[in-house]
Amino acid sequence: MAIQTVGIFGAGKVGIVLAQLALKAGYEVLIAGSGPVEKIALTVEVLAPGTKAVTAAEAGAKADLVILALPLSKYETIDRSGLDGKLVLDAMNYWWEVDGIRTDLTNPLQSSSELVQRFLPNSHVVKAFNHMGYHDLFDESVPQGTLKRKALALAGDDDDDITIVRSFINDLGFDSLFIGPLANGIMLEPGSEVFGANVTLPELQAMIARFVQSPRGQEIQLARENAAL
Ligand SMILES: NC(=O)c1ccc[n+]([C@@H]2O[C@H](COP(=O)([O-])OP(=O)(O)OC[C@H]3O[C@@H](n4cnc5c(N)ncnc54)[C@H](OP(=O)(O)O)[C@@H]3O)[C@@H](O)[C@H]2O)c1
Repeated sequence: MAIQTVGIFGAGKVGIVLAQLALKAGYEVLIAGSGPVEKIALTVEVLAPGTKAVTAAEAGAKADLVILALPLSKYETIDRSGLDGKLVLDAMNYWWEVDGIRTDLTNPLQSSSELVQRFLPNSHVVKAFNHMGYHDLFDESVPQGTLKRKALALAGDDDDDITIVRSFINDLGFDSLFIGPLANGIMLEPGSEVFGANVTLPELQAMIARFVQSPRGQEIQLARENAAL
């Protein structure tokens, strides 16, 4: 599937930067906020000229790929009307200062993207763009082949989805590292070494290897093996 139109849910810091990068890469970009279009229209016009502010329903319906860039605690407010069968990139993280204390979002053995996938059962959720700060995303985007290009990790359950998303990440200016199924997204979340990482592919690979070998990584692996018994 060729991605032409990108929908972004969330017209905040990450949403706007990803909109700018996707536009620069040649995609049509539709951005939606939590409310009416008028609420974000000026922000979008000033910060990401060339992209279009729309409702979440319109962005979901018209986009080939949708990026979730809203507070994780609000994931159940996502307009899922147009998301059946869609590729959905989950860039969200639990951040208690924003999200409040939410024990339902902080199971130490589960990726928050698994919750999102459960909320969007007919969408293809891939975790991507969550671990790098928005200013680094903005600053570090460079063409393929640039020396010391930075890398973004992604996790997802479907090989075809992963191929598409890796190509998209490359277009937006980054190398990519596939780390396995969506459940492995836990390795990219707050509390992990990768969270906040702005590093090259070999450095990112080393961080993931350290996570797998760490006591926490071993605990997660053991819990999965026990659950499978
Ligand atoms: N900041 C970073 O450097 C960074 C990096 C990677 C990932 N992330 C993650 O990306 C997400 C967004 O972070 P941010 O820093 O960009 O937050 P932000 O600046 O606060 O922006 C969040 C945006 O989401 C909108 N929103 C809320 N509910 C929505 C809904 N149901 N549909 C569509 N839009 C909705 C908000 O609109 P209203 O104001 O109208 O509610 C706001 O425009 C978070 O989960 C964060 O953990 C952040």
